[in-house]
Amino acid sequence: MYQEIFKKYRPTKDNLIYILHDIQDNDPHNYVSEEAVQSVSEYLKVPVNHIYGVLTFYTMYSTKPRGKNVIRLCESPPCFIKGCDNILNKLKETLGVESGETTTDGLFTLELCACLGLCGNAPVMMINDEFYGDLTEDKAETIINTIREERA
Ligand code: FES
Repeated sequence: MYQEIFKKYRPTKDNLIYILHDIQDNDPHNYVSEEAVQSVSEYLKVPVNHIYGVLTFYTMYSTKPRGKNVIRLCESPPCFIKGCDNILNKLKETLGVESGETTTDGLFTLELCACLGLCGNAPVMMINDEFYGDLTEDKAETIINTIREERA
């Protein structure tokens, strides 16, 4: 099942994070399953525990199924000072979920994360691979509603 992905990478430990990324990006639920971990372990000859260590160290990975669009709102100090908690409340209200949860239609998962490297544009969130900076509550709501219409 993961052979197409494995074909792109030599079976060396150095490729572990790239393979995990590829698996997660190609999973309809945006996560790395137990089955995937087992397959990667066999392909790279790396213990399962080591793979879980990597998966839990990097916050961009998930071992739980997530929505089609993963929202990651930065909560590090520069974004906090610029009001990311207000953005969080607006996102929760718009989506009807708490952080760490997925909407019932499976379209969005809301997560908090550390600095996304765009502090000059705080507050910042990322949805899948796209960054959204200088957020206001209205802007955040509009972004979500636009994605809802486009990707539903
Ligand atoms: S602190 Fe939020 S992007 Fe850096």
